[in-house]
Amino acid sequence: WIDKLEVQPLERAEYIRLLSDYTEEDRLYAQEKARKIGDRYFGKQIFVRGLIEFTSYCKNDCYYCGLRRSNPKAERYRLTEEEILDCCREGYALGFRTFVLQGGEDAYFTRERMVHIIRQIKGAYPDCALTLSIGERCRADYAAFRQAGADRYLLRHETADPAHYRVLHPEPLSLEHRIKCLETLKELGFQTGCGFMVGSPGQTPETLAEDLLFIRRLQPQMVGIGPFIPHGDTPFHNKPQGTLELTLFLLSLIRIQQKQVLLPATTALGTIDPRGRELGILAGANVVMPNLSPVAVRKKYSLYDNKICTGEESAQCRSCLQKRMESIGYTLVTDRGDYPA
Ligand code: 5AD
Ligand code: FES
Repeated sequence: WIDKLEVQPLERAEYIRLLSDYTEEDRLYAQEKARKIGDRYFGKQIFVRGLIEFTSYCKNDCYYCGLRRSNPKAERYRLTEEEILDCCREGYALGFRTFVLQGGEDAYFTRERMVHIIRQIKGAYPDCALTLSIGERCRADYAAFRQAGADRYLLRHETADPAHYRVLHPEPLSLEHRIKCLETLKELGFQTGCGFMVGSPGQTPETLAEDLLFIRRLQPQMVGIGPFIPHGDTPFHNKPQGTLELTLFLLSLIRIQQKQVLLPATTALGTIDPRGRELGILAGANVVMPNLSPVAVRKKYSLYDNKICTGEESAQCRSCLQKRMESIGYTLVTDRGDYPA
């Protein structure tokens, strides 16, 4: 099935069997194949994205996330436009050519405020790509962001199974609306990213099969996956975290299925294992997303417990990652790192 996946889609039942019965040997087989495909398209180059976590306010109440509105212990902050631009200036000097503005769903950042921020960043750094990751908005907002110059949008679908979606999110969130947003983003010409947590409560081989089928149908330019990690102040505080092995296996399957996709080795993967990001690259990932947020706010952007890099300066993270990538024969590049045309 791993061989078949390289040339054609699997049937739902085949994905389920593969995800239920795979052995360590299968995982390593997929990893080798994924790595070869990654190297064929991207060589030994790893793209970097500077992640700016600009607001920890969120109107949603996702059961897994430390920033959920019902968590009174979450420390809330918003960066000012000046602070955001300072992060970009620092990032640019460090060689970043993509900035990712990520935040909770924060009504303070209206269409007008976001458009202003996007224009400032794209005006100051016209050679950089700008990615937004600010959740579900109406079509007119997305269109205005695109018009203002935003290039990419990350919106993880979290699970492609409606019942599982309901296990992870209370109403009014729905899978149906999430998928509408993703389709709108693609239509508007954003390089679009979906994705999910590995090992989230209620996830099964069946729901993962739906995720892989959904990715096949959407054909996103980016896919973000990382292990679920419990946060102590959420309803899922007692749930087990996702495993390294399953995350690596899924990274490999996604690389084999979606050959040229931009696929990060995430901070969550680096949090559950000290070499998680290196192993993620070796399993088929080709992107890393070090934190560019001001150190003063980093601990407050607490999606899950024990997040790494909350005490390090941006420059430290950049050189740390450069060393880590070199240790496995890869190198960070100063490049926008667009999806191949
Ligand atoms: N563990 C791992 N990932 C999480 N995210 C949110 N909470 C957690 C958690 N507890 C992920 C979600 C979201 C992304 C920004 O962070 O998938 O889309
Ligand atoms: Fe931040 Fe290693 S990447 S300290």
